Amino acid sequence: MPDESAPSSPLLPYEGRTIALVGLMGAGKSTVGRRLAEKLGREFYDSDTEIEKAAGLSISEIFARHGEADFRRGEKQVLRRLLELPPHVLATGGGAYIDAETRALMKEKAVTVWLNADLETLWRRVQKRDNRPLLKRADAKAHLSHLVTEREPYYSQADLHVHSKDGPHTNTVAAILKALQTWTPE
Ligand code: S3P
Repeated sequence: MPDESAPSSPLLPYEGRTIALVGLMGAGKSTVGRRLAEKLGREFYDSDTEIEKAAGLSISEIFARHGEADFRRGEKQVLRRLLELPPHVLATGGGAYIDAETRALMKEKAVTVWLNADLETLWRRVQKRDNRPLLKRADAKAHLSHLVTEREPYYSQADLHVHSKDGPHTNTVAAILKALQTWTPE
């Protein structure tokens, strides 16, 4: 018989919020996000997948046919919609958090976690797939390095910072869960 007089543990602040993963391509947002969602028994959404579903086109096709500006407009709309859903785990596309309005909305509605990884790790991971239009160029690694520098001031505004190291994803999931315990809204 459960002891009904025992005090139930109070909800931690993050439990009422969507957990949004931000960071560069190759940081592991989708893979880690999916595992984090499983662990927490939450739904998992990936903003890139939602954009693809809405457009009926892959990200590469959207960039090729409509251009980056159109993609960014769609990305913003999709994130606005996803952030209205009940608390879930959300992997965001690498550029989403760079937009000031999206950043502000995520601050209001979610706990944001920057999945940070060093350039060599990012580069090794992004080479496994050919689905990133921003890296379809001869100087792709140099461009990725440029994005690391350019975007760091934005990603560092996330509520929590977790290093995404090589090795089992369960380690990164555990590091996120630990960081979440400490989070309080500003
Ligand atoms: C982008 C990252 C991609 C995707 C698009 C643009 C970016 O998502 O949204 O190719 O600007 O960094 P991932 O970070 O999931 O690769």
